[in-house]
Amino acid sequence: MGYFSDYLKRTDDRMLSKWVHYFEVYEREMTRFRQRPISFLEIGVFKGGSIPMWKGFFAEGSRLTFVDIDPDCAQHAEEGTSVEIGNQADPDFLAQLAEKHGPFDVILDDGSHVCAHQIASFEALWPHISDRGIYVVEDCHTSYWPGFGGGYRNEASWIEYAKRLVDRMHSWYTDQDAMFPFDEIAKDLQGVRFYDSITVAEKHQKPEPPTTLYAQNGKVTLSRRALAVRGRKSAFAGKDGT
Ligand SMILES: C[S@@+](CC[C@H](N)C(=O)[O-])C[C@H]1O[C@@H](n2cnc3c(N)ncnc32)[C@H](O)[C@@H]1O
Repeated sequence: MGYFSDYLKRTDDRMLSKWVHYFEVYEREMTRFRQRPISFLEIGVFKGGSIPMWKGFFAEGSRLTFVDIDPDCAQHAEEGTSVEIGNQADPDFLAQLAEKHGPFDVILDDGSHVCAHQIASFEALWPHISDRGIYVVEDCHTSYWPGFGGGYRNEASWIEYAKRLVDRMHSWYTDQDAMFPFDEIAKDLQGVRFYDSITVAEKHQKPEPPTTLYAQNGKVTLSRRALAVRGRKSAFAGKDGT
């Protein structure tokens, strides 16, 4: 666990609350963001224990923002960090937050874990993720708990929403237009990764529709025919080579 196992031995009385298996996922997903100062947002402060953890993890000069609905959490702000008080389900609050602190390279939702809140936050904040940034939602097991708006295969749960992101990311490729129209998120959603209780959505702005590459005898040619035959060329009107 590298950084995190060392950090856990250095904690003070500000309690940190995480599931053990999350640290491996953080290492895997977030290590590449340590090389340069970044902008990071965590929803959910509680006793403030994650603030010094992320401050030590990311490069000096990073902008670290934390959000909680509980006004008492404001006391946990420390040098180089901001704590904003507001509701993660309130799009107006999130718009102001993004205006003030965004765009963000990494967003981590460790807030209420209520599915409707997780979805509302993602919809408001995904546009404010930087190119190549990631949006992480943890404690996704609440998607299986009715008390949090979940339940097995409940369409309203975060996990079912995240599974639908996989379809939406592929909406370039279908010819079933009536039931599966093109979805704008396909233009900047690069991948959705599912871990035990954690989802990661990665942004990669695609200036052009997906392209097939052919290489033979040292010659490389590109083609969008596979999409053109399905009528999806027009999704980037004027930029699709037509
Ligand atoms: C799991 S704790 C955060 C733990 C912290 N990230 C850590 O690692 O130690 C969840 C926090 O989310 C906050 N919260 C609950 N509902 C919220 C909402 N609607 N908007 C923002 N924060 C909320 C709670 O007040 C609580 O402090």
